[in-house]
Amino acid sequence: MRILVIHGPNLNILGRRNKVIYGEKTLDEINELIEQQAAEIDTEVSIIQANSEGDLVDFIQKESNGADGIIINAGALTHYGLSIRDALLDTNLPVVEVHLSNIYAREEFRQRSVIAPIAKGQVTGLGWRGYIAALRTLVAELRGKAWQ
Ligand code: DQA
Repeated sequence: MRILVIHGPNLNILGRRNKVIYGEKTLDEINELIEQQAAEIDTEVSIIQANSEGDLVDFIQKESNGADGIIINAGALTHYGLSIRDALLDTNLPVVEVHLSNIYAREEFRQRSVIAPIAKGQVTGLGWRGYIAALRTLVAELRGKAWQ
């Protein structure tokens, strides 16, 4: 089982960026927790962070072959990134969208996701644990189990 974990723009500065909204952990710390959980459920993860949409599209096109599912926090691209949405759709893989903050409790422009309509589901507002919930649920679903 191989899952792509994709972090979009500005998530590289987690830990410094608005901690009240995004939490204290750095992206490296979050990625380590994701990798630990993945190992526990016998799953390989390929993780990327990029600040530009083109780099994320390149990664999706290149890495989706041989992957089983995608977890993505597209950052602000969530709200307008149509080429990332198209790239995700073209993989035919199940996509779970994650947000650290609750995008529905924030500014109006954040309350619309162009990814949500093509996603299997969305985890929003649960902080870094949202990635773990997404990973465990996606893998369990892919294995045909209700929960690990
Ligand atoms: C975010 C929410 C987005 O609106 C914002 O632009 C981000 C982070 C989140 O994880 O809460 O960069 O995706």
